[in-house]
Amino acid sequence: MDKFVINGGRTLNGSVAISGAKNATLALMPATILAGGISRLSNTPALRDVTTMSALLRTMGIDIEMREHTLTLDTRGIDKFEAPYEHVKKMRASIYVLGPLVARFGQAKVSLPGGCAWGPRPVNLHIEAIRKLGAEVDLQEGYIVARASHLEGARIHFDVSSVGATGNALMASVLARGTTVIDNAAIEPEITQLAEYLVAMGARIAGLGTNRLEVEGVRELHAADATTIPDRIEAGTFLVAGALCGGTITLTGAQAGHLTAIIAKLEDAGSEISATSDTVTIKAPRKLRSVDVTASIYPGFPTDMQAQWTALMAVAEGASVVTDSIYFDRFKHIPELLRLGADIDVKDNAAFVRGVRSLTGAKVMSTDLRASASLILAGLIARGTTEVLRVYHLDRGYESIEKKLRALGADIKRVTGEEF
Ligand code: EPZ
Repeated sequence: MDKFVINGGRTLNGSVAISGAKNATLALMPATILAGGISRLSNTPALRDVTTMSALLRTMGIDIEMREHTLTLDTRGIDKFEAPYEHVKKMRASIYVLGPLVARFGQAKVSLPGGCAWGPRPVNLHIEAIRKLGAEVDLQEGYIVARASHLEGARIHFDVSSVGATGNALMASVLARGTTVIDNAAIEPEITQLAEYLVAMGARIAGLGTNRLEVEGVRELHAADATTIPDRIEAGTFLVAGALCGGTITLTGAQAGHLTAIIAKLEDAGSEISATSDTVTIKAPRKLRSVDVTASIYPGFPTDMQAQWTALMAVAEGASVVTDSIYFDRFKHIPELLRLGADIDVKDNAAFVRGVRSLTGAKVMSTDLRASASLILAGLIARGTTEVLRVYHLDRGYESIEKKLRALGADIKRVTGEEF
């Protein structure tokens, strides 16, 4: 396993290129199942999760090649309709193959995802949506087994706004007979890009970008190409790094329109932020102010940025409350931040943060993707040396983060070894 060794206190300056969005790619890749042909997804990030999804799709008979951030998928030879446990346990997003497999082949056998570092993450909304569209769905020995001679359009109303369930419902409905209405659909940019991609494949979808999607089923779709949107969580993570470490950094290939909540909170905390059509520049505040945040569905402050915000607030002036209204127990990073000298209490789904003058380097353990990001950020400003262990979590969702941070002036290096 690898670890990062960081010597804190360096000022960050310069520009950093933002990669394609992990959570868009993980939806676009399974969407190609819906048509037989060759698709090219450009601006695809080189991430462990993309490798994991590629391995899963290859077991189904899809030929996949990644060259220079363009993923080419050939879906003409699909001959297996299963997502085995050994793949799904590595990545929950594997469940995205359920909808397209049932829609195009009338069958799917997908392992139930395990929990993750911060607790259970049910898939009931995915299953209910596929059932509503006419599939027979049973749970057999930890697998979702779905069958359908064909799918019929239906009205689907999600009690809870769910990114994944919206994605699966959309991908299942585009080949169903008749009209499907999806109410309380997620409007995250990654879902809007999925809907746009399905339209490019020949699907008929109205209401893109709204939480009411109307789908007219068609008989078949054709392969299409796409350019993945920038990763708004990677962008947000680098903006927080800019606010933390002084100096001025510019994100290139970023979409400010996907970052409105993050930008507003960073300005409240004292940062100066400006943007063009594809860049965002942040000037660190002279004095970092404490600002409360409640993570909620888009366009609210993203839950995937909650841990990074807590690292920022750990050294802000005053006290703040960081609440997560999506996941009630996504606070595994807190005990590790405490080891760096932060002053934080967690109660229910909120972290109560009292800013301290400085953090002190220590060995800390990554537990999940975004928790790892918050530990890296804390290490950048902690006095002395911080070692962040088990950075494979980070490699799931950040492309070459240590190279990008080093290019901005950070003193961070990856050390490969077995014992940590
Ligand atoms: C997506 O996960 C993202 N992953 C997550 O990002 C992100 O944290 C999450 O959306 C929320 O924004 C991908 O897009 C691959 P949900 P997803 O279904 O689709 C509950 C990262 O760090 N729920 O929107 O799994 C669920 O428990 C990852 O990049 C049900 O109850 O999230 C949660 O409380 C982590 N039943 C809420 O809905 C269901 O069937 C939102 O989850 C499905 C979800």
